[in-house]
Amino acid sequence: MNELIDHADTVNALLARYGVKFGIYKNNEFHEQLFPFDAIPRVITKAEFAKLEKGLIQRVDALNAFLRDIYGEKKILADGVIPEDFVFASKGYLAECEGIMPPKGIYSHISGIDLVQAKDGEWYILEDNLRIPSGASYPLIARELCRRASPKTFMHNAVADNRNYADLLKETMEYVNCGGIRAILTPGRYNAAYFEHSYLAERSGAALASCSDLFVEDNVLYYRGYQDKKQRVGVLYRRISDEYLDPLTFLPESLIGVPNLINAYRAGNVAIVNAPGNGIGDDKGIYYFVPQMIRYYLDQEPVLKNAPTYLPFYEEDRKYVLENLGKLVVKDVSEAGGYGVIFGRDLRGEQLENLKALIERESRRFIAQEVIDFRDLDIMDGMDRVPRKADLRAFVLSGETTRVWASGLTRFSRNPDSFVVNSSQGGGFKDTWVLSR
Ligand SMILES: Nc1ncnc2c1ncn2[C@@H]1O[C@H](COP(=O)(O)OP(=O)(O)O)[C@@H](O)[C@H]1O
Ligand SMILES: [Mg+2]
Repeated sequence: MNELIDHADTVNALLARYGVKFGIYKNNEFHEQLFPFDAIPRVITKAEFAKLEKGLIQRVDALNAFLRDIYGEKKILADGVIPEDFVFASKGYLAECEGIMPPKGIYSHISGIDLVQAKDGEWYILEDNLRIPSGASYPLIARELCRRASPKTFMHNAVADNRNYADLLKETMEYVNCGGIRAILTPGRYNAAYFEHSYLAERSGAALASCSDLFVEDNVLYYRGYQDKKQRVGVLYRRISDEYLDPLTFLPESLIGVPNLINAYRAGNVAIVNAPGNGIGDDKGIYYFVPQMIRYYLDQEPVLKNAPTYLPFYEEDRKYVLENLGKLVVKDVSEAGGYGVIFGRDLRGEQLENLKALIERESRRFIAQEVIDFRDLDIMDGMDRVPRKADLRAFVLSGETTRVWASGLTRFSRNPDSFVVNSSQGGGFKDTWVLSR
């Protein structure tokens, strides 16, 4: 472990050279910043991981069942488990996806589930990311560099090998392949996760494509390859959001999408990973209902808990939230990247009153949660070891079976007073070691 710490600067220098950075927009300007890596890994025991695995698989299976149901029969609404207007009011629900059954019925092929571990050891799910969760490439490349810097560390510790991510991704894509090559659609060099797109394409043997490399003819998607060779694409791992995917179906002004892609998808000629319309499943308001979904679709008790959550949409919850705002964390359901997350304790009198008024006016727009005093992990700050808040993004892949990658992205806050770990808020990351015995 000390050897890893000694090599941290080398590893960070290599990460910078490989382009492990992400861009953020501040005041409408594009800034690129490094994603700082901390050499002390998060360690998860074998038994603990087995429990997480069980809970995560169950959760993602239920969410996939929910997505099939919402864009199909809508039984969960008819049975009154989730209020109908709550679902259709979500920005994540796309009427354009009504009645489309994605290949093999899978909507969320790659799910990034965010969890924290409380001080008593209990894990809580903070949110589900079913659209284009990023981050798997960072522990993957960091592990590779650490292994090179200190092979001994990995000989002496029984750490589950995480290099299988590329195979998991490949198998997941192949399972839904409609006949053709695998491609990853990137918006390009200026996207925050461009490094990840190119790295995953290279590792999994998929073509890295931008919109100008792809076109649709007679409802079939093609890739324009080397020397203009036209190759059919059977599965597209798209790394751009729904609204930009196809200017003929969604935003007409999109310059990064592929015209007629949705028609090819609707005709069953190409699988889209993850499926368009998944935003209804990871809406922060819908999160509240996931434990009910697990009971409803799988007839099982949830293995992992949600953070205690209140929906101001319900009168009783709204009352509680307004009375206790100062100790709660409030989230705007349509925001991400840590932007819409407000801790009541950080607000002064007038700000608190303004937020209360807003919650009363737009109650569907917010959820509130108890603040979980989750565990700190040690990070190196210069020569000092200091504790910082850290969460875990677990990656769950759904193909023939649902599997959890035995690794994950541990993000930490660099600010000692902050609970928010998102990279867009200046957080760093660690490797996650799952012990193999
Ligand atoms: N209930 C909570 N208690 C403590 N910290 C929280 C809570 N909810 C969120 N956070 C912190 O804020 C971050 C962002 O919250 P999250 O729900 O994941 O929204 P986002 O979509 O912005 O990532 C989390 O990773 C965590 O660090
Ligand atoms: Mg998050």
